[in-house]
Amino acid sequence: MRIFSGIQPTGKKHLGNYIGAISQYVDLQDQGDPSIFCVVDLHSISVAYDPKEQRERVYDTAAILLAAGLDPERCIFFRQSDVPEHTELTWLLSSITSHGDLNRMTQFKEKSAKQRERVASALFFYPVLMAADILAYRTTLVPVGDDQRQHIELARQVATNFNQRYGETFVVPDWRIPEVGARIMDLKNPESKMSTTSENPAGTVYVLDEPKAIEKKFKSATTDSGSEVVRAPDKPGISNLVEILAFVTGSTMDQVEADFAGQQYGAFKGAVAEAVIEYLRPVQEKYAEIRPDEAALEAVLGAGAAKAQAIAGPIVAEARDKMGLGPTVG
Ligand code: AMP
Ligand code: TRP
Repeated sequence: MRIFSGIQPTGKKHLGNYIGAISQYVDLQDQGDPSIFCVVDLHSISVAYDPKEQRERVYDTAAILLAAGLDPERCIFFRQSDVPEHTELTWLLSSITSHGDLNRMTQFKEKSAKQRERVASALFFYPVLMAADILAYRTTLVPVGDDQRQHIELARQVATNFNQRYGETFVVPDWRIPEVGARIMDLKNPESKMSTTSENPAGTVYVLDEPKAIEKKFKSATTDSGSEVVRAPDKPGISNLVEILAFVTGSTMDQVEADFAGQQYGAFKGAVAEAVIEYLRPVQEKYAEIRPDEAALEAVLGAGAAKAQAIAGPIVAEARDKMGLGPTVG
């Protein structure tokens, strides 16, 4: 099994990223042959960004992943732009990716509608770059949160089309979406997923938030009418908190409901806050140790890039050759 996933260096990482993606990476790092994790800095330039801060954001994200427990001795961990095979393969794959399929991507529609500045064509091409990330390693399994399902479907389609047209080259990847925590919702607006770009900053808990801020956000979380701590379709706020508490305490959602039967919302929200603070504490402590040493972070990413390129290089060369590009091989 070959595992690959990517995470953007934009903004700060939030609890949804942590539960839905980062914790899966840590759990899966020994299970891949190998497991490969990538800070996708090329994806993040598809929306407005500050070039002066870009490297810093990569270090922030890399340090969070390492603090979470990713071990560069046990997996490959690198920065996307260090391995040019990703961009080359993007172009090759774009020739068999239909414009219509890209037009159907809901993330493109959402992100382009939200944007006030011009919409870059990179945003439209984003899913092709993501397909290239995955296919360049003949990945079999892609751990992600629920919002990436459609992009992985596209990558599967692109691999299938390529293999039909040019002969067996790429592996058609499967996704791995966790049963608990695949879609953590905004605390203020529990009908929307938690994200860095939400309207109300109090709805998003960041991995690096101070304990006091975390407590405040959970205590002011939108709850629903009624008074029972149970999941229900008309109780998205409480359902979300039940899911978060089950995840961070390693319990089940049924158990959480049983534990809080008969208790008030206020006590429940306080308990969720406390559990999340304790869950994030060791990550925050580790982050504070790791983040200042940028030279060490560069060394980790550089060594990872060399290992990644050793895998992607021959695969992309094979795709290029099958497409009739470059000199005759062999
Ligand atoms: P991004 O920060 O956009 O690169 O996302 C990194 C990972 O976090 C992806 O695998 C997403 O599917 C996952 N993710 C993003 N938001 C959430 C959320 N609210 N709940 C669970 N997973 C999420
Ligand atoms: N698009 C993904 C996200 O926003 C990040 C990503 C880029 C990714 N390339 C990938 C995820 C390859 C999995 C595999 O979350």
